[in-house]
Amino acid sequence: MTYYIGADIGTSGTKTVLFDVSGNVIASASEEYPLYQPQNGYAEQQPQDWANAVLHTVAAVVKQSGVDPQDVKGIGLSGQMHGLVMLDQANQVIRPAIIWCDQRTAAECEEITERVGAEQLIAITANPALTGFTASKILWVRNHEPENFAKCAHILLPKDYIRFVLTGEFATEVSDASGMQLLDIPNRCWSDTVLEKLDIDKNLLAKVYESPEITGTLTAEAARLTGLCEGTPVVGGAGDNAAAAIGTGVAEDGKAFTTIGTSGVVFAHSSQISIDPKGRVHTFCCAVPGCWHVMGVTQGAGLSLKWFRDLFCDAEKHTAKNMGVDEYYLMDKEAEQSPIGANRLLYLPYLMGERTPHLNANARGVFFGLSAMHQKRDLLRAVMEGVTYSLRDCLEVFREMQIEVDDMMACGGGGSSPLWRQMLADLYRCPIQTTKSKEGPALGAAILAMVGTGAYASVPEACRAIIAADKICQPDEKAVPEYEKYYQLYRKIYPSLRERYQELAAL
Ligand code: XUL
Repeated sequence: MTYYIGADIGTSGTKTVLFDVSGNVIASASEEYPLYQPQNGYAEQQPQDWANAVLHTVAAVVKQSGVDPQDVKGIGLSGQMHGLVMLDQANQVIRPAIIWCDQRTAAECEEITERVGAEQLIAITANPALTGFTASKILWVRNHEPENFAKCAHILLPKDYIRFVLTGEFATEVSDASGMQLLDIPNRCWSDTVLEKLDIDKNLLAKVYESPEITGTLTAEAARLTGLCEGTPVVGGAGDNAAAAIGTGVAEDGKAFTTIGTSGVVFAHSSQISIDPKGRVHTFCCAVPGCWHVMGVTQGAGLSLKWFRDLFCDAEKHTAKNMGVDEYYLMDKEAEQSPIGANRLLYLPYLMGERTPHLNANARGVFFGLSAMHQKRDLLRAVMEGVTYSLRDCLEVFREMQIEVDDMMACGGGGSSPLWRQMLADLYRCPIQTTKSKEGPALGAAILAMVGTGAYASVPEACRAIIAADKICQPDEKAVPEYEKYYQLYRKIYPSLRERYQELAAL
């Protein structure tokens, strides 16, 4: 028997899973770490926390499973995208990583657009300048912390820093590199034009691979720390969304998924490159060599519900603990008791600014229509509905771009909520499926390791062999027009607040 490890370096924690070659879970371990928000709009993490979490969880799955380490044939990495890790000449981390949801770089985005030109930027990087993306973070460090920038010898993405820890190699792969805004997306290589215009030295960047390619092997030290064998191959892997696509079988045209994790993503595979000229959705290289995907992002999806839980749901946490159930299960049950439209309460999920379809780092969350009659259940339902309206906004852009979606999967923590899946089905007006395996990005990363080490001939072939569909949720004919009324009102709220957000940010 052969085994493969998928490690997903997420925002709230790392999850590492050991699979057999059919994708069955043999052992799984996770470890959480903090997110630091030193100022409103800032978001940072310590790369060492990720490294510790990966080393501990890999060691844990090897130990728990009792498998012979020689039978572990490959490792795939998946991770939160866009984060900036800077290493000095001695390969030491220079400053905390500035991660994907950090919004401090509005001025640097203007600088990027000015230096490269808005049209050329979209033609090459397939996206307008975005605060979340790595390029603006690099410029921010150069503009605000020149002493740190001067020390920088290597720039890495979060999971690629982990690759360095495991293998000693400076490598990345196309799907995650797409989110740096330095990659030539049509040609799948670093863009000399963009690098020159931004005055960033290409030598700082890692070598770019396709996702299933082997990028290095475990060092003796990493082998000692994890219990695996020195020389175990580590493949490129993928950014968390591209990895989740593989882990849910979205590797062919017509297939798409929605994930509700910390952020919410609507993702569709595409064998042809297709770019939204208005830059409302991202076009990235995907983990299937030679293919792309389009992706819309709601910055504060699961994050909104987690924020609400942490502020207002101590009672649910307590009861859930006593009942031995998940607190989100109880919150779901509570939200179910509020009707569609949450008794005329709408929520805009822009707690961390927004990307799709409103590129605005200064947007913030809103409850619209609060009344003294509202109960906690109404607020809970409004949060879940507001996130779903925002995901529907993403799908509307795909529809405008004529990207056909025949098959929509749901995944992420929110995808396991029946209420949230029903909202998706009713607002998208299409059936929503889940997969039997709930391991999404970790399974996707492990599948890439299987393909890269020769267990399967191609990514789509591996997906067809491994991924099985589970539940299916159909739109409810009565609910569809009800939601539609609220969604149409929701769409009008952001435009009426756009200027006010700028005023608020300037205070
Ligand atoms: C994608 C994005 C998020 C992060 C979070 O563009 O920013 O989905 O990858 O994990």
